[in-house]
Amino acid sequence: RYLRRTMKCRSDVNSLSHHFLLIYDSLIPPDEEKTRQKQLLSLLERLVSKEWPEARLYLYGSCANSFGVCKSDIDVCLTIQDAEIDKSEFLLKLADILQADNLQNYGFHILQALTRARVPIVKLMDPTTGISCDICINNVLAVVNTKLLRDYAQIDERLKQLAYIVKHWAKSRGVNQTYRGTLSSYAYVLMCIHFLQQRRPAILPCLQEMEPTYSVTVDDIECSYFDKVEKLCDFGSRNKETISQLVWAFFNYWAYCHDYANAVISVRSGCLISKQAKYWTRRVGNDRHLICIEDPFDTKHDLGRVVDKFSIKVLREEFERAAEIMQHDPTPWITLLEPY
Ligand code: CTP
Ligand code: MG
Repeated sequence: RYLRRTMKCRSDVNSLSHHFLLIYDSLIPPDEEKTRQKQLLSLLERLVSKEWPEARLYLYGSCANSFGVCKSDIDVCLTIQDAEIDKSEFLLKLADILQADNLQNYGFHILQALTRARVPIVKLMDPTTGISCDICINNVLAVVNTKLLRDYAQIDERLKQLAYIVKHWAKSRGVNQTYRGTLSSYAYVLMCIHFLQQRRPAILPCLQEMEPTYSVTVDDIECSYFDKVEKLCDFGSRNKETISQLVWAFFNYWAYCHDYANAVISVRSGCLISKQAKYWTRRVGNDRHLICIEDPFDTKHDLGRVVDKFSIKVLREEFERAAEIMQHDPTPWITLLEPY
C-alpha cells in the first residue's frame, strides 16, 4: 500500500510567494530572444526551401509552448510529404546543406547528428547569435502537443509560474535527464497541468474532455480539443491558492500522496486512471511503468518509461526533499533550488 500522509501546510506559506515570483520573473526570456529565434527560423526556412520548396518548418518544445526559460535551445520540426523518406539520411543531407563551408555568406556550425535516436535530430549552432537549434523530421505530434501546452498556459498564469519553478528545480537537482532515467521537461509540465486540473476548485479544465474546436489527425491519432482558451481566462478564479501554496502542494503530492503502484496521471481525461486499465502493470521490454504519465495524444506512450528501479528512488527522494524543504525550511526558495 502506498503512503498517504496528510500534512498540514506551514502557516507562513503565503509570505513565500513573493520570493518564488521573483525567481519566476528572472527566468522569463526577454522579448529580444523571441525576435532572434523568429529570425533564425526564417533564415532556416529560406535555406531549406531552396532545396525542398515543399518543406515547412515549425517551432516546437519550450521555444513555442510558453514554458521556455531564457537562453534555451530551440526545437524545429521540418515537415515534408514523402512517405519513403529515410529520416537519418535526410538529416545528414540537411546538415550538409546548412554547413558553414557550403554557404558563401552564412552558415551554421553542425554540432551533432543523432541519427539513431528515437527522434533523430541534427544539432546546429548559429555562430552570430550563439543560439543552438535541434531539427527533427515529420514529428508533427510534437508540434500539436506543443500547441496544447501553450493553450493550457493561457488559461491561468499559475501554470506557468508552477512549471517554471518545477523545471528549474528539476534541472538544479539533476532530475531532468531522460538519458539517466529521470523525466523530460515535457513530462514535468504535464505533471503540473494534471495537478492544477485536480485542485478543488480546479485551476485548469480538461480541454480534451470539452467540445472540440480544433482537430487534426497525425500518424492515425486523432488530436482534438477545445482550443478557444480566451473564453476560459476566468476558469480558475474561484481558487485563490498562491504560487507558494501550489509549490508546497505539488511536492507534497509527489512525495506522499501519489499512488505509484496503481495510478496513471492523465491530462487527457483530467483525472487519475488505473495502470490496470492501460495494461501498464507489468514490465514489457524496457518499459517498467514505475511512475506513469500518459501522453495526452499518443496514449500508448508512458512518459515515465525512461525511469528505472534506481532512478525512481532518486526521483522520489528528491520529491521528499523538496516537500520537507517546503514544509520546514526558513528560506525554501533558496534551498529548494540548490544544485545537487
Ligand atoms: N516531446 C514529446 N515526447 C516526449 C518528449 C518530448 O512529444 N517524450 C516533445 C514535446 O512537444 C516537447 C518537446 O518535444 O514540448 C521538447 O521536449 P523537452 O525538451 O522535454 O521540453 P522543452 O519544453 O523543450 O524543455 P527544455 O526547456 O528543458 O528544453
Ligand atoms: Mg527543448
